Amino acid sequence: MNFSIKLLYWYNKNKRDLPWRNTKDPYLIWISEIILQQTRVNQGYQYYLRFIEKFPDIKTLANAKEEDVLLLWQGLGYYSRARNIHHAARQIMQDFNGIFPVDYHNIIKLKGIGSYSASAIASFAFKQPYPVIDGNVLRVISRIFGIFTPVDSNNGKKEVEIILNNLIDKDNPDIFNQAIMELGALVCNPQNPKCEDCPLQSLCVSFENKNMNAFPVKTKKVNQRNRFFYYMVVHYINKEEHLIYLKKRTKNDIWKNMYDFPLFESDHESDINDDLFQEIKKILKSDNYIVKGISKKYIHQLTHQRIFASFISIETTTDLLHTKDFIAIPFHEINKYPIPKLIDNYLMDNLMQF
Ligand code: ADE
Ligand code: SF4
Repeated sequence: MNFSIKLLYWYNKNKRDLPWRNTKDPYLIWISEIILQQTRVNQGYQYYLRFIEKFPDIKTLANAKEEDVLLLWQGLGYYSRARNIHHAARQIMQDFNGIFPVDYHNIIKLKGIGSYSASAIASFAFKQPYPVIDGNVLRVISRIFGIFTPVDSNNGKKEVEIILNNLIDKDNPDIFNQAIMELGALVCNPQNPKCEDCPLQSLCVSFENKNMNAFPVKTKKVNQRNRFFYYMVVHYINKEEHLIYLKKRTKNDIWKNMYDFPLFESDHESDINDDLFQEIKKILKSDNYIVKGISKKYIHQLTHQRIFASFISIETTTDLLHTKDFIAIPFHEINKYPIPKLIDNYLMDNLMQF
């Protein structure tokens, strides 16, 4: 029996019933694939359902405010994915009359869609024979064929692509692609693959050689950047109200167009000392405040960055940050603004201050 027959037979018996697998609508498939990049199925599931409920079609999404799209994405991370989806919906309205393009070369022109997503959409929605190549697929194929070329190099990817172009079931490219990803998710896991349950065991070079865990081979050691964030949580309390200041992040950096607090950033750890208080004073441009407390240190891991964050709780009776860069809001309105998980974590730990 050949590769594809074994794989599809296994898939039909073992696949999970996932909502995006029961549709041919390219819009729904696109949204699901963008959510599922860098997100586990369990977590992505609820986000997907909420997203398509709020934005059921391209036009609704294109007409939405970016902030509302980010709000729905809150907690998923990799927020540029949300901004790109929104941008691409507008691109489809303008360049393709609101109809999702069918041709692979047009699909890949959309913002945020690379070769993986374009292949996923072209195969799942339109049954075109483009193999999907994501981390799961690279791992499975490199194990089965014993590929020592690093899969994070162009040559390694090319090698896998050539193999898949030969293997892909031309009549069922959609099912073939789903099946190989499903095998990577359920059986051929990163650590300790369940080879005893694997339909491709008899074809697998690394099983034969008992070196499954040597694959996938990778070259790159991504270096990690440490950043030190000192947030000022400024409580502006006057006769009528208790407000806090937020700042929209507009630069090309993490969390673009989301909201956090007034921030002093450093590339090294600063003691909570006079220097730091001088920096705070510079930002607040005043003496009229009291430092009420300093939080524990939060460590927030992103893909290539580790954020060490401290939150300095400050109280004032004057509108210290009355400039266009900041907004003062009552605490209960904060759920109208997209905020990073780090800020949400701090707020959840410190609700009694508000
Ligand atoms: N991960 C990426 N795409 C997926 C899909 N369509 N089904 C399940 N997991 C996935
Ligand atoms: Fe992966 Fe093991 Fe199957 Fe090979 S036999 S594809 S290593 S699960």
